[in-house]
Amino acid sequence: MTGAGVVEAGGAMQGAGSGHPPLLEVIDLSAGYGPYRALFGVSLAVVAGSALAVLGPNGAGKTTLARVITGLIRPTSGRILLDGEDVTGERAWRLARRALRHAPEGRSVFASLTVEENLLLQLGVAAGGAGTADALARAYELFPRLAGRRRQLAATLSGGEQRMLALAPVLARPPRLLVVDELSLGLAPVLLDQVYATLRGVREAGTTMIVIEQRVHHALDLADHIVVLDKGTVAFDGPAERLDLGTIGPTGGTARGS
Ligand SMILES: Nc1ncnc2c1ncn2[C@@H]1O[C@H](COP(=O)(O)OP(=O)(O)OP(=O)(O)O)[C@@H](O)[C@H]1O
Ligand SMILES: [Mg+2]
Repeated sequence: MTGAGVVEAGGAMQGAGSGHPPLLEVIDLSAGYGPYRALFGVSLAVVAGSALAVLGPNGAGKTTLARVITGLIRPTSGRILLDGEDVTGERAWRLARRALRHAPEGRSVFASLTVEENLLLQLGVAAGGAGTADALARAYELFPRLAGRRRQLAATLSGGEQRMLALAPVLARPPRLLVVDELSLGLAPVLLDQVYATLRGVREAGTTMIVIEQRVHHALDLADHIVVLDKGTVAFDGPAERLDLGTIGPTGGTARGS
């Protein structure tokens, strides 16, 4: 079954009747890499102020979905609506200006810049320079470990520290819609709990989020709506309490979880 049918069960319909379009709507989206198809007719909707968790096994297409939504790759078919407006194929930097931000998988830092240069660059770009000093202080408050390494080159940070450096700017200056990919990867459990607590605060302050996560229990704690991807299609779309964990598959379950 493809997304369209499942969505009727609650997905794109969430928020219907409120009079407002969902903040983000993905309609029958397909995408891939060259001849390879990674997503097949995916549909979902994210209501403003809500948190959607996208779960699913390795290779299901979660990261591809994040890349398409944030404008890093163009879909081969389907549509993406932001505030009800068609933004399909719009570039990442344009979407970023509309406060849609992507915290990608892994350690996306500038290796040859220092910790502070990385933060200043990311924070400055996000808001054209305004309020950068406050956001920098907030980033160090969130990750004190980075504060002691301000002048260290990002290339020489540990894997976990690079992960902190990648996350710090988005958490320090939350956008309107945040797409976080594999937040938990590379973070020690204690730090992960702290980052999730921060994420909850960010959400309460009004940021809408799409959280792609392997650690199902953390995601379920945060999200009110769940989409499970499997082999590039939507296998489940509904409220968190209706999710049967057995549908997530061998690697998307608690295997890598807490
Ligand atoms: N740049 C790329 N070029 C070619 N194929 C790719 C590329 N990136 C991803 N793929 C393929 O697309 C499919 C979906 O990958 P994707 O990274 O979206 O999965 P995922 O659900 O994020 O998996 P994981 O949980 O392992 O991060 C996979 O089969 C993958 O091999
Ligand atoms: Mg991925």
